[in-house]
Amino acid sequence: MSGDDLKKRAAEAALEYVADNTVLGVGTGSTVNHFIAALARIKHRLDGVVSSSEATTQRLKAAGIPLVDFNSAGPLPLYVDGADEANRRLQLIKGGGGALTREKIVAAASEQFVCIADQSKLVEVLGAFPLPVEVIPMARSHVGRELLTRGGQPVLRENFVTDNGNLILDVYNLRILEPAALESELTNIAGVVTVGLFARRAADVLLLGTEGGVRKLLPDSAPSK
Ligand code: A5P
Repeated sequence: MSGDDLKKRAAEAALEYVADNTVLGVGTGSTVNHFIAALARIKHRLDGVVSSSEATTQRLKAAGIPLVDFNSAGPLPLYVDGADEANRRLQLIKGGGGALTREKIVAAASEQFVCIADQSKLVEVLGAFPLPVEVIPMARSHVGRELLTRGGQPVLRENFVTDNGNLILDVYNLRILEPAALESELTNIAGVVTVGLFARRAADVLLLGTEGGVRKLLPDSAPSK
């Protein structure tokens, strides 16, 4: 079974979390694209969807799923999104697609965050996937130097501008033993818009597509390693 089939499995399983006549938040990426295709089948039961990126907005429109403006939506019961890495506490690295800022905003406003991923995304320690950091363009050198002093190796994502008009530094060589503390520390660097660590607001449920079916993981309460 291909990785894409496993993503689709996880995405299909997330449909059971969608309650009738509600507005839900939808993330970004190839796994979420499968979820949008599944959501299209039940769109008549939805009040609408808050999108986390321009790419997702285009997909939702093409599927005929009604969009709701985030500022008019109020708190959301559910957010469904993918991840680049997840640990057993369901702390995530996100932003491989560059949509981390809006994703973090919508996740923050949602009561339940259901993460959908193929089995390759589950790791013991976050950081093998380079950590995306969205920065204000004028601050890219300053933020890069600050990341270097913390042991990271920042690389500017070439030919890429976020939906918010900013840049992405992908930070290599991090072994993230304390995700929430690092998220706070990096977020406090002047010029950083968003760090792609979703640790302070982790996922509540991880649906992992595996060869044997969909594994449902809840956050492990043991300290992350
Ligand atoms: C988008 O910016 C990301 O946060 C995605 O959610 C993440 O990269 C997962 O993408 P895939 O579902 O394509 O693996």
